[in-house]
Amino acid sequence: MIKTYGCQMNERDSESISWILSNLGFVETDDMIESDIVIFNTCAVRQNAENKLLGNLGDLKHLMEANNLKKIIMVCGCVMEIDSSREFLEEKFKHVDIIFGTNSIAILEDLLEEHLSTKKQVINIDQINLKTREKIGQNRRYNFKSYVNIMYGCDNFCTYCIVPYTRGREVSREAKDIIAEIKHLVDGGVKEVTLLGQNVNSYGKTLDPKILFTDLIYKIADIDGLERIRFMTSHPKDISKELIYAFDEIDKLMPFLHIPVQSGSNRILKLMNRKYTREDYLEKIELIKSLKRDIALSTDIIVGFPDESDRDFEDTIDLVKTVGYDQAFTFIYSIRPGTLAAKMENQIPDDIKNARLQKLIEVQNDISLEKNKMYLGKTLNVLVEGKSQKDENFYSGRSEEFKLVNFKANEEDIGNIIKVIINDVKSFSMNGEKVED
Ligand code: 5AD
Ligand code: SF4
Repeated sequence: MIKTYGCQMNERDSESISWILSNLGFVETDDMIESDIVIFNTCAVRQNAENKLLGNLGDLKHLMEANNLKKIIMVCGCVMEIDSSREFLEEKFKHVDIIFGTNSIAILEDLLEEHLSTKKQVINIDQINLKTREKIGQNRRYNFKSYVNIMYGCDNFCTYCIVPYTRGREVSREAKDIIAEIKHLVDGGVKEVTLLGQNVNSYGKTLDPKILFTDLIYKIADIDGLERIRFMTSHPKDISKELIYAFDEIDKLMPFLHIPVQSGSNRILKLMNRKYTREDYLEKIELIKSLKRDIALSTDIIVGFPDESDRDFEDTIDLVKTVGYDQAFTFIYSIRPGTLAAKMENQIPDDIKNARLQKLIEVQNDISLEKNKMYLGKTLNVLVEGKSQKDENFYSGRSEEFKLVNFKANEEDIGNIIKVIINDVKSFSMNGEKVED
């Protein structure tokens, strides 16, 4: 059983872990009691993700003791890359058998063998090795859509963020390897790929010859049979004009852009080391809005960054209203030991952070609802993903604009792109009726 916390990068890593273990004869299960191996793939981006891991590890220990179960327990992912957190785990959770970092997945078989022969706790924290990583396949969760890594790591060192420490320096995969992987996926029935990287817009920097992210997208768009291309995550400073124009040029590039702003205050953006101003950001948004196609926008925002004043926060609210995002992922600033912001003065008290988050969520929910109302009566192309998580009687999928759409459909529709006419909208989802061809 694999329990995955955090971002798409981790989900993707878990698919590789599953593939390695399948090749050794294991079968993935959802059943904690039945499982012989339990793996926790951890997230370090905020403290509460770390806390969840410790809670789950404690629960598992009790479950094993109460039922007299024997299991191999592995903990991997970003938290294991932080020395203090890993050492705490080694010390306090002796029942964890194998501990490995984000870049050790390729040698998982060796780690398992070492544990089985020595019965000792095995620990491996490595640097990325693209050659060995390229040899690892994935047990994909869906056969109609897939994440595809195009790069690993991050060089940006935003002052609040732990990722450059947990995932290491930025390394791009060769374009030919990415294209071969996508062709293979499409041959297997995949219609949609999401290109993954911590900062996809700087793709190719480490390659010789260099290649630009936009050029990579054009090459991928040429793959016959591939219908949809998305990418995650962008850094506003690296989004080029060419990339923005590509939305008008490439039909397969879905009209949705996640463009994390983090704050609307220039003072805070500087403290965050984001390397753009509010004005630079809004200029890019204007260019996106001037395109022939309507592009749905989403963002990430942190409230309560050290020294954030009421005025700075108001600047964020103002920016949110100016841009009019379809969706925003909003976070309370969480101190990450080892980052520059953790040492900054004027950390913001929890009650202020919470109040700011509530206010931001209220403002954004209203905007999301207004944006979604514009879809009433419209027919959207929806890639059907499966049964709705909220209501068994409905299926759900994503429109081209990445809207979550619920509708009545059949099992055979899963994996197909169908037409849905929208008749009801909320802030986070919309309902509609399937239009028969
Ligand atoms: N505290 C709160 N949010 C954070 N993020 C990254 N680091 C932190 C932190 N220390 C948020 C950013 C990023 C998203 C993935 O997580 O908004 O874009
Ligand atoms: Fe973290 Fe900034 Fe890198 Fe994103 S770009 S992973 S926020 S350091």
